[in-house]
Amino acid sequence: MEEGEAGEQYLFKIVIIGDSAVGKSNLLSRYARNEFNLHSKATIGVEFQTQSVVIDGKEVKAQIWDTAGQERFRAVTSAYYRGAVGALVVYDISRRTTFDSVPRWLQELETHSDTTVVKMLVGNKCDLDNIRNISVEEGKSLAEAEGLFFIETSALDSTNVKKAFEIVIREIY
Ligand code: GTP
Ligand code: MG
Repeated sequence: MEEGEAGEQYLFKIVIIGDSAVGKSNLLSRYARNEFNLHSKATIGVEFQTQSVVIDGKEVKAQIWDTAGQERFRAVTSAYYRGAVGALVVYDISRRTTFDSVPRWLQELETHSDTTVVKMLVGNKCDLDNIRNISVEEGKSLAEAEGLFFIETSALDSTNVKKAFEIVIREIY
């Protein structure tokens, strides 16, 4: 993270974590490029995008990291988390197993992070309300119990995607 006098830039590292196929890569592509891919492939290794946001008249740069949810495709875990000051912990509101994994992801984040991290629990795919398995209340109460912010998003129809990232960025800043 870079801090400085007026006029200088701020750079914040944010990581996206959660089980495979919850929509991590699509949340990032929707936010950074306004793109969505219905047939995206599982991420292999690590990718990141840098996004500029203006907050209170200052330019803030968020470097947002995305990795594989699948263990066998993941890169070195400690390097992924190093220096992160924000995290989006994502589950899919239509798949219970992805919600059940959230405590495990939080544990991994806790183990590897080296500073205080602003955390947002993200229930993605809220467009799939007709096959929902996790209620909004359930998401909220897990977030409260674990001390996280909470939001539901849809990378498909764009609901709350910008908001999810920008709440985290604003809170870090
Ligand atoms: P890994 O890279 O394997 O960890 O997966 P990921 O979490 O990056 O998931 P990815 O973004 O590749 O999305 C997985 C699938 O879910 C793709 O078919 C996407 O099109 C779909 N998807 C992602 N976000 C949404 C969403 O908000 N709504 C719906 N309906 N589908 C989504
Ligand atoms: Mg991915």
